[in-house]
Amino acid sequence: MISKSAVKELKNQFESQFGAQPEHVFQAPGRVNLIGEHTDYNDGFVLPCAIDYQTLVAVTPREDNQVTVVAADYANERDTFSLDEDIVSHETQLWSNYIRGVIKHLQMRGLTLGGADMLVTGNVPQGAGLSSSASLEVAIGETFRGLFSLPISKQEVALNGQEAENQFVGCNCGIMDQMVSACGAEHNALLLDCRSLESKLIHMPTDLSVMIINSNVKRGLVDSEYNTRREQCEEAARLLSVKALRDVDLDTLHEKKSLLSEVVYRRAHHIVSENKRTLDAADALESADYETLSSLMAESHQSMRDDFEITVKPIDFIVSLLGEFIADKGGVRMTGGGFGGCVVALLPHSMVEGARQLLETHYFQETGYKETVYICTASDGASEILD
Ligand code: GLA
Repeated sequence: MISKSAVKELKNQFESQFGAQPEHVFQAPGRVNLIGEHTDYNDGFVLPCAIDYQTLVAVTPREDNQVTVVAADYANERDTFSLDEDIVSHETQLWSNYIRGVIKHLQMRGLTLGGADMLVTGNVPQGAGLSSSASLEVAIGETFRGLFSLPISKQEVALNGQEAENQFVGCNCGIMDQMVSACGAEHNALLLDCRSLESKLIHMPTDLSVMIINSNVKRGLVDSEYNTRREQCEEAARLLSVKALRDVDLDTLHEKKSLLSEVVYRRAHHIVSENKRTLDAADALESADYETLSSLMAESHQSMRDDFEITVKPIDFIVSLLGEFIADKGGVRMTGGGFGGCVVALLPHSMVEGARQLLETHYFQETGYKETVYICTASDGASEILD
């Protein structure tokens, strides 16, 4: 839930920038992925939930075709551009390219848009692997869909955001983040088939907390390493003569091991095993089978560490510390693209304080980094906030 006071504050900020209260407020959440890492661009399965940290957009439509955006979190930097001219990248205000890209791609879909005055702010931690960019892309898409009654679905808002990120911003991400930011549902995780885009809501057990631990390890080399992993997966699919690694099972992968180099085999092994774990974890979550969930999350982490090689030492430390503590009462693993970022733990509410204490006592001492902890609830996807 977004507090009434946060919305009031946002509206006042808008008024001080544009001289009147905004006519509408829209929101789109960040996300945490419970399991299914790097499977989305392999046409596989993911199990994320939207979180109660969002990007907010206060907006009033304009009579002309001008878009003006103020970034409240970037010292009220302002960007203005016209819908009548080709929208190109902003060279210095990089935040604005997510907005320009989304709007340009909506136009490329043949949709008729009008101008708008917008103020954007958000509390999704940036650079932490909780999809602050996707939430911005989806928030802008949802804002224009709402303002101009665009004949597109939420799924298309998500696809449009991904297109903007791939082609305008230049990061080759999959569809998971935008889909859950657009289509998430309160108290539920979303089991998403990234090939068909069919999804199933999986109710989150009410006795578990969703704890996100930001390692605060600055994510280095993320884009280049991400793209290398993606190429290695595509190479594996090519050598195994399938459209995507989604089409391979573990037996086939073992049989055809000799076709792949050692590294590419391990990359493929992560994806193929992770797809199966994701489906099994959705069942385990649904039936509150925490023992199975615990093993699947632990195996997922090992696979990211040893086969996909996207974890870093401080993250491995958190996972092993909390893994021992939570045991079979929940689960813990790294979440997101990797090379730093966050760990997600599902654990009984009564264990949250103990977990916090453990981290406080050992994490800094062991690694020199200080953690940040967020307790989240699974939340609704993008929407207009009505008074
Ligand atoms: C990033 C990408 C997603 C997905 C994850 C890894 O968040 O944006 O598309 O590939 O990494 O699961």
